[in-house]
Amino acid sequence: MSDSPQEQAKGGAPNPSGWRRRLDAVLELPNDSPQKTLIVAVTLCLVCSVVVSSAAVLLRPLQLENAALDRKRNIVEVAGLLGSDGDVEAAFERVEPRVVDLESGEFAEDMDPARYDQRKSSKDPERSIALSRDEDIAGIGRRARYSTVYFVRDGDAIRQVILPVHGYGLWSTLYGFLSLKGDFRTVSGLKFYEHAETPGLGGEVDNPAWRGKWDGKIAFDESGSAIIEVVKGVVDETRSGAEHRVDGLAGATLTTRGVDNLLKFWLGENGFGPFLARMREKEA
Ligand SMILES: Cc1cc2nc3c(=O)[nH]c(=O)nc-3n(C[C@H](O)[C@H](O)[C@H](O)COP(=O)(O)O)c2cc1C
Repeated sequence: MSDSPQEQAKGGAPNPSGWRRRLDAVLELPNDSPQKTLIVAVTLCLVCSVVVSSAAVLLRPLQLENAALDRKRNIVEVAGLLGSDGDVEAAFERVEPRVVDLESGEFAEDMDPARYDQRKSSKDPERSIALSRDEDIAGIGRRARYSTVYFVRDGDAIRQVILPVHGYGLWSTLYGFLSLKGDFRTVSGLKFYEHAETPGLGGEVDNPAWRGKWDGKIAFDESGSAIIEVVKGVVDETRSGAEHRVDGLAGATLTTRGVDNLLKFWLGENGFGPFLARMREKEA
């Protein structure tokens, strides 16, 4: 409301509006008054929650884009496709993702690999199966019905297949990718991209020297059973069966056992076993 011409002529201050009067009244309260403390705290909370929620909403597309790029980086790294230029997108052009029905081992032709979220599915009772105590050697509780797999081809021939794997170590679930050669038996690489094992102990799963021990190990016996084994200590290369064994991590027997178990699970009947058996038959 504007001041009267008489008041303005006298040079008095303009009459402030209602909300301004209330703000002035609050600001004039002593700093240690409970009313002022409460009003400042509530206002601060409201402002902060608006800032945080806006940031979360606005940054979501960027986060998803970065998560997708990170996934691609891990896949091309385990496949050994990442060139010295570090161009992940260019390297990923050589990768063909497909979705597989884990129970039948057949491709799920109607599912789009770019849209399928296996981690989300594994928590959804509609899209996953509960594992019994005997089946659940990887300690994951539930397993998604479908999994994405990633092929790398040389012309028409399959050069590698990259399989997402996960399982419990000592402190955490380890998430990673196992790469098999085109014979669907021989390992070419293993890389974990997420875990919370102790650096220097279980965290040595990330050590390039240990990761280098996987290339060329034979994961299956002649009958197609998964017999890859991560042993406690060092593999005796002079003994028969050394081609199926990988050194354990020193001082981290429990993480080592977790890796051993998760590989046995994902290469077995309840994991990629049916898919790999089909592929071996098809490519033979
Ligand atoms: C603080 C702390 C962190 C540990 N972190 C790990 C780990 O990440 N992975 C693991 O297997 N063992 C870890 N251990 C050791 C285990 O408790 C256990 O002693 C070890 O797995 C046995 O391995 P070893 O038989 O090779 O000595 C940790 C121990 C301590 C005290």
